[in-house]
Amino acid sequence: MTFHHLTFTVNGQAQAVLVEPRQTLLDVLRGPLNLRGAHRGCDSGDCGACTVMLNGQPVTACLVLALDCQDAQVLTVEAVADGPVMHAVQQALVDKGGIQCGFCTPGMVMAAVALLNENPRPSEPQVRRALAGNLCRCTGYQKIVEAVLVAAEMSA
Ligand code: FES
Ligand code: FES
Repeated sequence: MTFHHLTFTVNGQAQAVLVEPRQTLLDVLRGPLNLRGAHRGCDSGDCGACTVMLNGQPVTACLVLALDCQDAQVLTVEAVADGPVMHAVQQALVDKGGIQCGFCTPGMVMAAVALLNENPRPSEPQVRRALAGNLCRCTGYQKIVEAVLVAAEMSA
């Protein structure tokens, strides 16, 4: 087994880990970095539960090789809140009932935060498009979409 050095920044903190070439960003986040917010659902890029931001763009961490993150900036759901104050997307998901079992929620939050960073006042179709890669088995999506629209209003 061959290990390589990976140095990158996760949630504002410099990290140095040894990884195998086959390991993904999700493996490293949930393994050595002990950041379990990005969930492993399908492990094949289909469900969006593992969504994080890589250099400001949402990615499915199960499809990103860890060694491709050398010198990158990664943001995970653990660092979205401002200390004890939830991000507007998180607060709106709670307020609007957009969370049921919660398995999809971290990925939904990251996809929505990425959308609002790019487009602070999205239309409903734009919200639906931005969340199209994030599957939810519980909510029927409507309350999640409403929550993102409310978060956009709260942040305006
Ligand atoms: S676990 Fe990565 S997309 Fe499903
Ligand atoms: S709240 Fe259960 S999968 Fe979305």
